Amino acid sequence: MELGGQRIAKGEMVLCSLTAANRDPSLGADMDRVDPLRDAPSHLAFGHGIHRCIGAPLAQMEMRIAYPALLRRFPSLRLAVPYDEVPFRELAIVYGVKELPVAF
Ligand code: HEM
Repeated sequence: MELGGQRIAKGEMVLCSLTAANRDPSLGADMDRVDPLRDAPSHLAFGHGIHRCIGAPLAQMEMRIAYPALLRRFPSLRLAVPYDEVPFRELAIVYGVKELPVAF
């Protein structure tokens, strides 16, 4: 079969990177930038299909409540170090920061 212009032979394994898929330029411009107002309904942050994250509605509700509450409480919340110095985890199933120094 062929998928996205790539021929896949019978028995070959296909490993899908959700992180790379979420940066697909067909989803929109500048997909490396965090934009909470972005409309990207086909993102794969919570997976897809039968194993799609069962906690997605809870996680989305928590984010809708927690982020505005955090910014209301600390309106001048900002990075305490230059962005380039924020340490990211290199080997982890879920990508993210090792720590996030902030000032307020
Ligand atoms: C921002 C927060 C979260 C993210 C980004 C996230 C992401 C994901 C992803 C990508 C999958 C699919 C894994 C796969 O395809 O094998 C998944 C599955 C799952 N998630 Fe989440 N998740 C989050 C929060 C939660 C929460 C809050 C819960 C529970 C309260 C939860 C429970 C689960 C469970 C049980 C599965 C397995 C579903 C299955 O295999 O049928 N997740 N999650």
